[in-house]
Amino acid sequence: MKICVIGSGYVGLVSGACLADLGNVVWCVDKDENKINILNRGGIPIFEPGLKELIDKNYQVGRLKFTTNLDLAVKKCNIIFICVGTPTSKKNHSADLSNVYSAAKKISKNIKSFKIIVIKSTVPVTTGDKLEKIISKKVQRKLFEVISNPEFLREGEAIRDFRFPDRIVVGSNNNKVLKKIKILYEPLIKKGAKFFSTNRRGAEIIKYASNAFLATKISYINEIANLCEKTGVNVEDVSLGIGLDQRIGSRFLRAGPAYGGSCFPKDTKAITSTANLFKINLSIIKSVIKSNENRRILLTKRIKVILSNKINNKKIAFLGVTFKPNTDDMRQSSSLLMIPYLQKRGAKILYYDPSGEKKEFSKLKNVEFCRNIKDLCRNVDLVIIHTEWEEFKVLDFKKLSKKKKFKIYDMRNLYSPDVMKKNGFSYYSIGR
Ligand code: UDX
Repeated sequence: MKICVIGSGYVGLVSGACLADLGNVVWCVDKDENKINILNRGGIPIFEPGLKELIDKNYQVGRLKFTTNLDLAVKKCNIIFICVGTPTSKKNHSADLSNVYSAAKKISKNIKSFKIIVIKSTVPVTTGDKLEKIISKKVQRKLFEVISNPEFLREGEAIRDFRFPDRIVVGSNNNKVLKKIKILYEPLIKKGAKFFSTNRRGAEIIKYASNAFLATKISYINEIANLCEKTGVNVEDVSLGIGLDQRIGSRFLRAGPAYGGSCFPKDTKAITSTANLFKINLSIIKSVIKSNENRRILLTKRIKVILSNKINNKKIAFLGVTFKPNTDDMRQSSSLLMIPYLQKRGAKILYYDPSGEKKEFSKLKNVEFCRNIKDLCRNVDLVIIHTEWEEFKVLDFKKLSKKKKFKIYDMRNLYSPDVMKKNGFSYYSIGR
């Protein structure tokens, strides 16, 4: 099939490259000329394991193209994916849909033959209806169909998630169109992905409700971890114990810092905001948002307690600062609150992250990026394991602390408290 993907950000690039790899011809469009130039020169504007190789492979055989020319790409293709960003609005908690509306207007100027317009961007329920209205102003209704096909890609695992999804959700009442989309995804369905179709509004809600549910699971176990810490119970045993009940399931029950990233914080806010418009109070999700905000503060204060309330002049090392491993994404990462808080109170912060130095900390005095773990841990008072990158899982802390014994705050429970104690470390973790 001939596919146009509008928006070459995270979702657009991964979807575009993976759809090309399934044998389709894909035109990836972006208004950012710089981004398209980078891609056409063989570079990659984002960090995602496996993506560059996939892009190179499909670009070389001519199945993947990058352009700023939306008009041409729309004309050439019969399926158009909208993959533009829907960030939190500057005014309130709702999703800012200006990119989606602007894409729809541009598409509507270029429809001469039948097009399926697929909304992959995360959009509030009824957005599909609005797009249909916008496009109808310029195009006869029989020449297009707007459908919803939300993405469930995790950063760092996006290629795998695209190729082996649990389910493919499509929202449309048009059987002919559903059939066509099913053919597009046939290679994934053959490998075991479930194809689930519902109406368009249903699919729109499924996306937000999924993310809000996962965020709820994490916040839930994080609060249980607080109780475990006070009662001498290991939260990991609790996670296993409750997760074995198939009605609950074991995934997304890892206690840790507040959840971050570009989706959970944004989508939980957007769904409550949409519900408010319909005079529905999603009180559970609102509590989750609050609980997650509290968690950032709670863990930051815990650092202070570990340092016996004396932050001034303390040397603190952060292992990892991104919101999770295998990404360079800093959005809504707990480190964005923790590091400035400690720095303002006189601490000297050193950090190391496999994804490199962060512009977010470049202007902060006494916050320094270290290129290796050995230098990072030399002469420090406290080491904080903030992100669970693979290389942090097998560290020899005895060696690293030869010059000076430091305390360890393991926010991802990577190490055994017993072993740490045996080795003479003051070791703190989550819910244990
Ligand atoms: C998420 C959804 O998983 C994905 O389906 C959706 O399309 C986009 O949002 P992503 O934001 O990439 O993906 O990250 P994810 O792996 O879900 O983690 C989100 C946050 O939750 C991270 O901060 C992570 O550390 C935290 N988390 C996750 C936990 O604290 N505990 C867990 O058990 C799982």
